[in-house]
Amino acid sequence: ILKVTEFISANDLAALLDVSVNQIISTCMSLGMFVSINQRLDAEAITIIADEFGYDVEFTKSIEDEIAEVETDEAEDLVERAPIVTIMGHVDHGKTSLLDYIRMSKVTEDEAGGITQHIGAYDVMTKTGHKIAFLDTPGHEAFTAMRARGAKITDVAIIVIAADDNIMPQTKEAINHAQVAGVPMIFAINKVDKPNANPHKIKEELANMNLLVEEWGGKYQSQDISAKTGQGVEDLLEKVLLESEILELKANPDKNAVGTVIEASLDKGRGYVTTIMVQAGTLQIGDIILAGQHHGRVKAMFDHKGKKVKEAGPSTPVQVLGLSGAPQAGDTFKVYDSEREAREIANSREQIQREQSLRTKKHITLDEIGRRL
Ligand code: GTP
Ligand code: MG
Repeated sequence: ILKVTEFISANDLAALLDVSVNQIISTCMSLGMFVSINQRLDAEAITIIADEFGYDVEFTKSIEDEIAEVETDEAEDLVERAPIVTIMGHVDHGKTSLLDYIRMSKVTEDEAGGITQHIGAYDVMTKTGHKIAFLDTPGHEAFTAMRARGAKITDVAIIVIAADDNIMPQTKEAINHAQVAGVPMIFAINKVDKPNANPHKIKEELANMNLLVEEWGGKYQSQDISAKTGQGVEDLLEKVLLESEILELKANPDKNAVGTVIEASLDKGRGYVTTIMVQAGTLQIGDIILAGQHHGRVKAMFDHKGKKVKEAGPSTPVQVLGLSGAPQAGDTFKVYDSEREAREIANSREQIQREQSLRTKKHITLDEIGRRL
């Protein structure tokens, strides 16, 4: 049995198999694959080549696996964690306003043209004393990939639909993302304070899409709300908690942190600022972190209000200073014990990325990225 990581080069594979790289290349050729010395090989190619030389392959863990393995922690190490809830829906239907009401803040007023441009991450304590982590997504059609990403790290999706409007394209798309990700949905039928609001019509439109709400005998929870007056918002949060209780969400807080990058940017004064969602383990100041192609030591951490924090446990969004660059939203992150290991993986990912972008210099649309995620 040969233990390898995915994407090693033909040269490295030759060394592991104790054969010359020319043997690898000619073997590949006879199989109809053309590889060069430094070309990185995917899992399929490695398996086929190793098989030719009489080896079975066992792939060592990737970060993606580690996160997927959150559930395989020892049962006694797992403790309850807060739900991660993504708010999705058509542009202007009131997603940010709903979050503003829940957080008692006014993000909408600071936004350019009132349109959310990025995923905002917040954590909130409900009046009943439960923590919920929220992700706000843009409704604009250009942000498909972000909604898909949001759906991926989510436990429960709130689909906001304005009751003075209809089920719109981005409403449908949000529903679709949640369904593809297998995430339970709760419909928040918003703007019911408006005189022309017609929540009944929205429920009818949902029923026509085979999404029957609970009060009509279906399985989907829905709540009429007004993000402006706050009507129904408490009830909505109770429904979120009910839905997440069923999921029995748990994580091991006593291990190296793993999670997902929400967004990253370069701040002139502070360097690279990366917002991440910790999904398991606990992130601490001084930890060596690898996120996508970048690594670094956590210099400082801030919560969504800009307050300094020393650590961040499961289901906590946090801003991190100290990375060597800006990872992509949706990249996974993980804490390493060895700086060298983190740096090496970062470097090899960067190289793979460079090679791939040389090979595929074609224009990729946002929609395609959304589908890939
Ligand atoms: P994007 O981020 O652009 O997708 O929009 P959004 O869904 O976050 O909508 P946003 O919260 O920015 O609200 C859009 C507009 O609707 C704003 O002018 C809000 O004041 C208004 N609005 C939101 N909720 C309500 C509500 O419950 N009642 C009324 N009357 N107006 C609301
Ligand atoms: Mg918004």
